[in-house]
Amino acid sequence: MRVLSGIQPTGRFHWGNYFGAIRQYIALQQHEQAFYFIADLHALTTIRDAALLRQLRQDAALDLLALGLDPARATLFLQSDVPEVVELTWLLMTVTPMHLLEKCHAWKDKKAKGLPADAGLFTYPVLMAADILLYDSDIVPVGSDQVQHIEVARDIALRFNHLFGDVFVLPAARTLDESAKVPGVDGDKMSKSYGNTIEVFEDPKKLRKKIMSIKTDSTPVDAPKDPNSCHIFMLYQLFATPEQQAALAERYRAGGMGYGEAKQALFELADQFFAPARARRAELAADPATLHDILQAGAQAARTKGGEVLARAQRACGLSSLSAG
Ligand code: ADP
Ligand code: TRP
Repeated sequence: MRVLSGIQPTGRFHWGNYFGAIRQYIALQQHEQAFYFIADLHALTTIRDAALLRQLRQDAALDLLALGLDPARATLFLQSDVPEVVELTWLLMTVTPMHLLEKCHAWKDKKAKGLPADAGLFTYPVLMAADILLYDSDIVPVGSDQVQHIEVARDIALRFNHLFGDVFVLPAARTLDESAKVPGVDGDKMSKSYGNTIEVFEDPKKLRKKIMSIKTDSTPVDAPKDPNSCHIFMLYQLFATPEQQAALAERYRAGGMGYGEAKQALFELADQFFAPARARRAELAADPATLHDILQAGAQAARTKGGEVLARAQRACGLSSLSAG
């Protein structure tokens, strides 16, 4: 069973990304074969600043390793280190009906807003299909916003198989558990695009400042408060044991506790929670050769598997070398 997922390096990871996605990807590395890659080719559809992209892909790799992705269990690589994926994209493109791409959200939304869109954005789902099909992936864990893309990958695989024989494994999406929507500092869903994020690798001073800036209502200190309608409490629950949660909930209900105190409790737990990962990250960041070796070994493993599947696809559609069968 192969599990595969891609992560776009489009910004620093925030708590929403960690609890909503990264933590769950990392838990899946126990599977026989787990492939994770940093989708830098996809990121090119939004990031047009070379220094920034370089930085973000390195940050993404360091972050994932520091958060527990174990290169001894899982294969981690940069998408652009596997050129086979671009070649497969073309093969897939030739069997992809336009209407399949025209209904995809990213493109449709941009078009509906009258914004200029390029061919990269339009064909983005085909590159994503190649990412998946190139490694005979069985399971693709993704957030619900990406499920449509996995269905497109499946449709493309079915069409290719129908035309050329049984070449591709049909992948299935495994939707991440998104029941815990992580709120941002303003109470809305935490998201880069809302500017309300708290980053995983924030240094403690800045972390405290951000937590202290969480918006609250004007309930007086003395008044009892409802923990379940308070986003400080929701954030606290991400880090706290059931006993700690019950104790803080009791403080809310009893009255006499200001939000500042809840924020301080949140800061202390969050800071502790990420401290080991922060230390690991600092170690890794100080040792670029090791990061390089991990990514190179990952790319090598991905290319070995990807090369086999690409050759299978080439043979099936008549592109293998003239002397070969
Ligand atoms: P952003 O909204 O900041 O741009 P992304 O769309 O890049 O985040 O999200 C990457 C992954 O992190 C997705 O799988 C998404 O489901 C998850 N995620 C992002 N924000 C949250 C959140 N506030 N709560 C739970 N999961 C989240
Ligand atoms: N498009 C995905 C996202 O934005 C990232 C991605 C690229 C991906 N290729 C993939 C995810 C292949 C799963 C499988 O989140």
